[in-house]
Amino acid sequence: MAPIFVYALLSLATAKLPLCSGLAAVAAAEVANIPAPAPSVAQPTLSFAASNWIWKPSSTLAAFRKDFTPPFGKSLIAAEMIITAITGFNLYVNGDYIGSDSTLGRWGYSQRFCIDLQPSFNVFAVNATTTNASVGGVLATILVTYSDGTTDTLVTDSSWRAINGSPAGFEQLAFDDNIWSTATVTATYTAAQRTVLVPANPPAITLFSAQWIWTNVIPANGNLPVGSRAFRKTFTPAPGQIPMSANILIAADNAYTLYVNGATIGSGTNFKVAQQYVVNFGTPASEIVLAVRATNGGTTANPAGVLVMMEVNMQPGGRTNCTAGSISSSDGSWVSTLGAIPTGFEQPDFDDSAWPTVALEGAYGVAPWGTLTITAPSAPITI
Ligand SMILES: *[C@@H]1O[C@H](CO)[C@@H](O)[C@H](O)[C@H]1NC(C)=O
Ligand SMILES: *[C@@H]1O[C@H](CO)[C@@H](O)[C@H](O)[C@H]1NC(C)=O
Ligand SMILES: *[C@@H]1O[C@H](CO)[C@@H](O)[C@H](O)[C@H]1NC(C)=O
Repeated sequence: MAPIFVYALLSLATAKLPLCSGLAAVAAAEVANIPAPAPSVAQPTLSFAASNWIWKPSSTLAAFRKDFTPPFGKSLIAAEMIITAITGFNLYVNGDYIGSDSTLGRWGYSQRFCIDLQPSFNVFAVNATTTNASVGGVLATILVTYSDGTTDTLVTDSSWRAINGSPAGFEQLAFDDNIWSTATVTATYTAAQRTVLVPANPPAITLFSAQWIWTNVIPANGNLPVGSRAFRKTFTPAPGQIPMSANILIAADNAYTLYVNGATIGSGTNFKVAQQYVVNFGTPASEIVLAVRATNGGTTANPAGVLVMMEVNMQPGGRTNCTAGSISSSDGSWVSTLGAIPTGFEQPDFDDSAWPTVALEGAYGVAPWGTLTITAPSAPITI
């Protein structure tokens, strides 16, 4: 039996969190008169370890800006940035739209962007929403690269400026944020104890926070009619991001067939095992359409569910060696059909606009499915 579980976003986020002063964001300036050759060392790994959750208290919509001017003698080339928010965010750099996420309960997965910068003055601007003004937050880490190959790391901290609402044009380079207050650090990332996954290459192999889903009507006893149902999710990358490969974990109670952009990827029949598929995009994909045919076996009503985790690596972008990526999982943004499965439902251009969104049965780990075994990755499947 599968108890209905409402994603505990707010209860997690409302835990008492200590305040802390802003962390030093930028390493001390080092004057370099003669540009050094680019170092051949690997760039630092991006993480949230030194970052902070920031917010403008009492706001359900807030805007934030971080002005950044490089130290004397340095010239900026690019940034690699990871960001998440409770509940949604839009990110702009120097007025240009970079990307967003607005899926309720998705703060546990960050997005990773490659961004070209101006040589000197740059503005990172974010507007973000929350469903509860007492519980809002933006968390980001920005690795900037200079023309001499050196780097600095910026984090969300009390040096960011903040305002209630989202003033028109706030994201523009020339916008005057002098009357804004400073952002409030509600907790350091470490103190908040909320894990946020970072898209990485190779990917983090985890089912963390993915939701078991099924069609939109789930009886209180969790027992669902036997039979096959269809599920779909259309994943749209941020502008300029081109999917290169996807790593997909999937399990279903009792059986599934997975399609990506209309191509058959694989099938499984064991709800204690999440199978792992590696999909390479031979032709650039502007969208990734996941389609799942899932079957609840048996002769009488019983628990049924589908669990999916996808990490997408984008083609390296920007003027440095930068990894962009995104994480997506089965959640309340998936849709499904209760009736007969229509022919061609797995095709990317199939019209699912009339399909209702799925019901959530609980995050990975919930009974009756518990912890799953994750298989080794499949041989890469090129589509
Ligand atoms: C919003 O968060 C506050 C602070 O944690 C909490 O006391 C309140 O119950 C929440 N409101 C709603 C509607 O969830
Ligand atoms: C966020 O900012 C952009 C650009 O100013 C604006 O178009 C958008 O409406 C804002 N979002 C919200 C929720 O106000
Ligand atoms: C980019 O960095 C990765 C990881 O450090 C490395 O394997 C790859 O060869 C680099 N690519 C280029 C074009 O420098």
